[in-house]
Amino acid sequence: MSGDLNTIRLSATDRGLRVAVTFLRKGGLVAFPTETVYGLGADARDERAVAGIYRAKGRPAHNPVIVHVASLQAAARLIDLPSEGARLAQAFWPGPLTLVAPVRADSGIADICRAGAQTLAVRVPAAPLALSLLQAFDGPIAAPSANLSGKVSPTSADHVMEEMHGLVEGVLDGGVCGVGLESTIVGFDEDGTPCILRPGGVTREQLEQVAGPISDAPVTNDLAPSAPGQLSSHYAPGARLRLNAAQPELGEAWLGFGEEPQRTSAITINLSPTASVEEAATNLFAHLRILDAQLEYSGTIAVAAIPENGIGLAINDRLNRAAAPR
Ligand code: TXA
Ligand code: MG
Repeated sequence: MSGDLNTIRLSATDRGLRVAVTFLRKGGLVAFPTETVYGLGADARDERAVAGIYRAKGRPAHNPVIVHVASLQAAARLIDLPSEGARLAQAFWPGPLTLVAPVRADSGIADICRAGAQTLAVRVPAAPLALSLLQAFDGPIAAPSANLSGKVSPTSADHVMEEMHGLVEGVLDGGVCGVGLESTIVGFDEDGTPCILRPGGVTREQLEQVAGPISDAPVTNDLAPSAPGQLSSHYAPGARLRLNAAQPELGEAWLGFGEEPQRTSAITINLSPTASVEEAATNLFAHLRILDAQLEYSGTIAVAAIPENGIGLAINDRLNRAAAPR
């Protein structure tokens, strides 16, 4: 994919941050690392700048974006959090949690960020470079994942450079993202009970330790997704995925987890030889990109079963969407 811009790789230094802020202030797009994935940032108060995000990604106009801020205090100026929401924010911010709550009339956030909803999604990221950028910019930054719409999320500056070169002003290089999967998105029903709209970096178990039982999000389908971006086909590599495989069939690539199977493939990579779901989460998107390139964006990747515990739930959510018919 290419565009007309001369995309600059910015170092994780004061100078790199200064250039990033200059781009953002004039309404440009800057990709930056968070602990989950790289975000594609723009000034969240600037309608035209955020429209640029939608254009660069080819993102459908009905899909709202997450607004990033530097602190809980800054978030409280944007949304009205129910009491359980405030408790979750206190426990998990900064961190891989996004809270969706009614937007305040005086938030100053461009309407386009909400794509017509009365609620706004807000998050305080934990990655030091993301926080430094938010502090230096001194304002809210709208940022979806820095990939083309429907594709695999980027977990390194190289991923962003490959896919978004020419489409963004700058890419702030903070190395590889530690969590590797997107934030957990939590919304609230009318009486303030939290529900998970997207599993992610904070696990259900962790949320329930703070907020008690969390209701299951309403069933999502393509007609009425509760987080509008959660369409069933998403995170899609060029190759097809065959999930919960015991071993690769002839000609398939193999994405392993834990012990290797009897039969192997010439194109093989392991998400976590020690069977750690955290390590598998960190590696998932990068490994999908590697196998996809080796298969020349066609053929099939057989994927080992991933346990449904902790962040394993979020891994399986992404794998299921990556494997969905397109
Ligand atoms: O970890 C993350 O959350 C990363 C980093 C960059 O912060 N961001 C990210 O953004 O994953 P994106 O745009 O790829 O996914 C955001 C999801 C979409 O599914 C979108 O529909 C949902 O959040 N969302 C945003 N605003 C919403 C709202 N007001 N109500 C419900 N869902 C919302
Ligand atoms: Mg995304």
